[in-house]
Amino acid sequence: MTLSRRKLLTGAVGSAALATTARADDPAITELPDWTVYLGDGVDAAPYGVPSEYEADAVRRDVPWLTADPVSSVNFTPLHKLEGIITPNGLCFERHHGGVAQIDPAEHRLMINGLVDKPLVFTMDDIKRFPRENKIYFLECAANTGMEWRGAQLNGCQFTHGMVHCVQYTGVPLRYILEEAGVKTSAKWIMPEGADASAMTRSIPLEKALDDCMVAFAMNGEALRPEQGYPLRIVVPGWEGNMWVKWLRRIEVGDEPWHHREETSKYTDLLESGKARRFTWEMDVKSVITNPSPQAPITHEKGHTVLSGLAWSGRGTVERVDVSIDGGRNWTTARIDGPSHSKALHRFYHEFDWEGSPLLLQSRAIDSEGWVQPTKGALREVRGTESIYHNNSIQTWHVRKGGEVENVEVG
Ligand code: MTE
Ligand code: CO
Repeated sequence: MTLSRRKLLTGAVGSAALATTARADDPAITELPDWTVYLGDGVDAAPYGVPSEYEADAVRRDVPWLTADPVSSVNFTPLHKLEGIITPNGLCFERHHGGVAQIDPAEHRLMINGLVDKPLVFTMDDIKRFPRENKIYFLECAANTGMEWRGAQLNGCQFTHGMVHCVQYTGVPLRYILEEAGVKTSAKWIMPEGADASAMTRSIPLEKALDDCMVAFAMNGEALRPEQGYPLRIVVPGWEGNMWVKWLRRIEVGDEPWHHREETSKYTDLLESGKARRFTWEMDVKSVITNPSPQAPITHEKGHTVLSGLAWSGRGTVERVDVSIDGGRNWTTARIDGPSHSKALHRFYHEFDWEGSPLLLQSRAIDSEGWVQPTKGALREVRGTESIYHNNSIQTWHVRKGGEVENVEVG
């Protein structure tokens, strides 16, 4: 590489055109392809559009050995295939404990009962007569990255970090609905309940319910997908995905938590001492490099390389993301691009000149409350290795000479 070209590459981010690999006699420019010679499909070919057949690899995937049965299972968002901060509806990971309920919205009801002045039952039409709002939030399962507590295990950010998605929700602030029923002064908690076969329930403090919770009926501009809770789900911004009850049919108001299964035997964090942390609702500051990553190796030889990733925090916005290409010895501040919404995914980039030698890629996010994403070692010191949930530690990808990438740990 000549000196002037190197200068351009490292100096100006917009100089990617210099990285061209096409030749002047390339048949892709000297010969007309079929799609130029012949007319394309008409407008009715796909009443509901689908991606190009060449994007068939951008799909949700599961880990076959992880769960015994698909109705109580999970699949993962292909983070390495996404751009920006919004997850397309068909690629949002799914987690259900009793299969996907297929609900006729005309027969769906939302009941509010318990410590209220008047118990109420709403139809979907009733819900849509409240004032609504549009908000972009991430949803992360508390078990995301849960298989990595004891060592590097799964090869792909889809599998290590793909229990997260971020969409724009349309719905009604929950406080409007609770105000309509009239919450009694003794009330301190609410319990949303799902209409699916698992009848999922969780206890949520009333303070959170009145703050930023919503009942949402749309995501990314269209009705919720059945697997995301059609026709109605509760949105609990920044808090663990398990609390975001899908197929929402009832909210009970009470004066103490219910201590149901999902907040006693599950979604608690067993510590080395034998004690368990409970009610660990907020999702801690976290990030991951999505490209390069095991499913998205570097395919060019060396030179200008775009590193990209996602960062988020259940406590607010992401203020800064640092990246390292040498396993955490040296750090550079990455470039956050696109909108920065509280409790939403943030997209970051770092453009660098790859020498073609092995790399240890890491990213470290810092949120608006000053929380810093910890190393694996630091997190294990506090939490041990018996946990499943709330692993927000720094991920390391080892890039080999040839550009392949694998999941590793550094000391
Ligand atoms: N709600 C009901 N009714 N049933 C469920 O099985 N799974 C929970 C939560 N809400 C679940 C549910 C879990 S553990 C998570 S992580 C999120 O939904 C997943 O939401 P998603 O499938 O839209 O990604
Ligand atoms: Co979950």
